[in-house]
Amino acid sequence: MDGQYLPISEAKISVLDWGFLHSDATYDTVHVWNGRFFRLNLHLDRFFASMERLRMKLNYSRDEIESILHHCVALSGHRSAYVEMICTRGGSPTFSRDPRDAVNRFIAFAVPFGSVANQEQLERGLHIAISDTVRIPAESVDPAIKNYHWLDLVKGLFDAYDKGAETALILDTRGNIAEGPGFNVFLIKGAVLKTPARGVLPGITRRSVFDLCAELGLEAQRVDVSRAELKGADEVFITSTAGGIMPVSRIDGAPVGNGQVGPLTRQLKDLYWKKHEDPAWSSPVTYP
Ligand SMILES: Cc1ncc(COP(=O)(O)O)c(C=O)c1O
Repeated sequence: MDGQYLPISEAKISVLDWGFLHSDATYDTVHVWNGRFFRLNLHLDRFFASMERLRMKLNYSRDEIESILHHCVALSGHRSAYVEMICTRGGSPTFSRDPRDAVNRFIAFAVPFGSVANQEQLERGLHIAISDTVRIPAESVDPAIKNYHWLDLVKGLFDAYDKGAETALILDTRGNIAEGPGFNVFLIKGAVLKTPARGVLPGITRRSVFDLCAELGLEAQRVDVSRAELKGADEVFITSTAGGIMPVSRIDGAPVGNGQVGPLTRQLKDLYWKKHEDPAWSSPVTYP
């Protein structure tokens, strides 16, 4: 941050940064697996598009940011990492309330790879609860801009814990399924995959599922998904850079399908991890 590489424990921002005071920030997260970035270009595309829509500007080019990310991972020494790039509105030297006076700030970090689901949950499937909480409407905060407006998602998580579940899904403004804290969701019914079309971050892992489906000749749709449709699915899985394709085996206490991790979920998950070695999908970190 601020042109320096430092241990994460020493990376501190001002309490006057609008990113902290108003959640006025955007970010992206990419992962490194076995020494290779996964689809870094797509993450950089999304990060730059988010900054543009929030009218933020940095003094770094895309190539410079890419090289900073490589450097962060190399200095950390992690072979598998969770790598975040952040642009905050910053602060104004004159305490102006006008966002145009703020000096935008860039921060990047690499920490060990983390997953939404732990090993046991990956093997037996996650237990999810559907909360009545509604995701902030797209007309207020565009979910395609990756953001830290997470009070709805965190409320959903607490609702899920109260019901004895492990994580949550929340709703869009029409009462259909939207997304969860840090992930998109897919259902499989017959040979067709469906994922909510509206009110969600267009996840890179979600996009990867569409690409994998195209390779496998499977039909995948972006559509409205009702609670009933999700609960009546044969298979359900969630997708995130933090964990990839992760099976769901219970929703609101009831089994999904036969309650076991389904065959298509397994097939997609295996192919997803294989792609981490494919130069068309991944690129090596330049370690010193
Ligand atoms: C709200 C939200 N939805 C979905 C996702 C999944 O996106 P991706 O697959 O790009 O990690 C994330 C990622 O962190 C997220 O924060």
